[in-house]
Amino acid sequence: MSRYALFGRSVAKSPSPQIHAAFARQAGIAMEYVGLDVEPGALPAALDAFAARGGRGANVTVPHKQAAFAACTRLSARARTAGAVNTLRLEEGQWYGDNTDGAGLVRDLTGRHSLDLRGRRALLLGAGGAARGVAPALLEAGVRELVIVNRSPERADALADALGEPGRAHTRYWEDLAGIGDFELVINATSAGRDAGAPLSLPFALCNDMTGAVDLNYGEVAIPFLAWARAAGLRTIVDGLGMLVEQAAESFEIWHGVRPDTDPVYALLREGAPEPATA
Ligand code: ATR
Repeated sequence: MSRYALFGRSVAKSPSPQIHAAFARQAGIAMEYVGLDVEPGALPAALDAFAARGGRGANVTVPHKQAAFAACTRLSARARTAGAVNTLRLEEGQWYGDNTDGAGLVRDLTGRHSLDLRGRRALLLGAGGAARGVAPALLEAGVRELVIVNRSPERADALADALGEPGRAHTRYWEDLAGIGDFELVINATSAGRDAGAPLSLPFALCNDMTGAVDLNYGEVAIPFLAWARAAGLRTIVDGLGMLVEQAAESFEIWHGVRPDTDPVYALLREGAPEPATA
């Protein structure tokens, strides 16, 4: 039986083991996928120990995506641009790193939610591991402009530099949010609300008639941003549950060479998490 794991913090609550178990049943593959809590700084040792126990691949989540990037010997182009890794595969005793977050988000938005991202003006709130994972894919999907705004401006600048498309991807200050115009896509990639911090306070001036609001978080953490989007009267409001399932499917394909059918798995998870657009 091949062994896989999710490394993160408080992973007992993560649906990822359930998602991968469902994919494996679909594909008729015998595999183990477990969640493992790892302290900050302990990821390299945990990955080594996992490989020694027969681990073949791993997902990495908060707060270890940048540490995972550093732990990999080889990297995909998109992981290199992101500076963050969420999927690892053991190759000849060394970890290969990829990042499936962006592809997962784009597949959820364009497929499940029928959003056309091409030509859109997009606002990315945040510049941490989650934002870095999705930014390259948003550019690749054809957004016209990607404005990155982060509480700490130097992290936003570093992300814009890494993207290397100054004409399309650039930064503005958080304090200026009320005066930077409106967007067809507003993406919350911050972790505000995850650790009992104050929820985001965002101006409605960011929205126009077409604006879609997307939170990369799901469940309780996503509630304040989704409530803001509803208060703004937006019609397209998306939480991170679909992206979670789609990035998992991308990882599954990297490990097993099989593309799972995500719809039944998404439907199952959605039963326990009400649709944001209809709440
Ligand atoms: P993740 O992997 O989820 O992206 P992270 O790398 O710790 O986690 O990044 C968290 C992001 O949320 C950062 O962009 C952070 O802003 P800073 O870089 O200024 O720390 C952002 N963030 C967290 N709490 C926030 C808050 N209350 N308001 C605005 N941004 C917040």
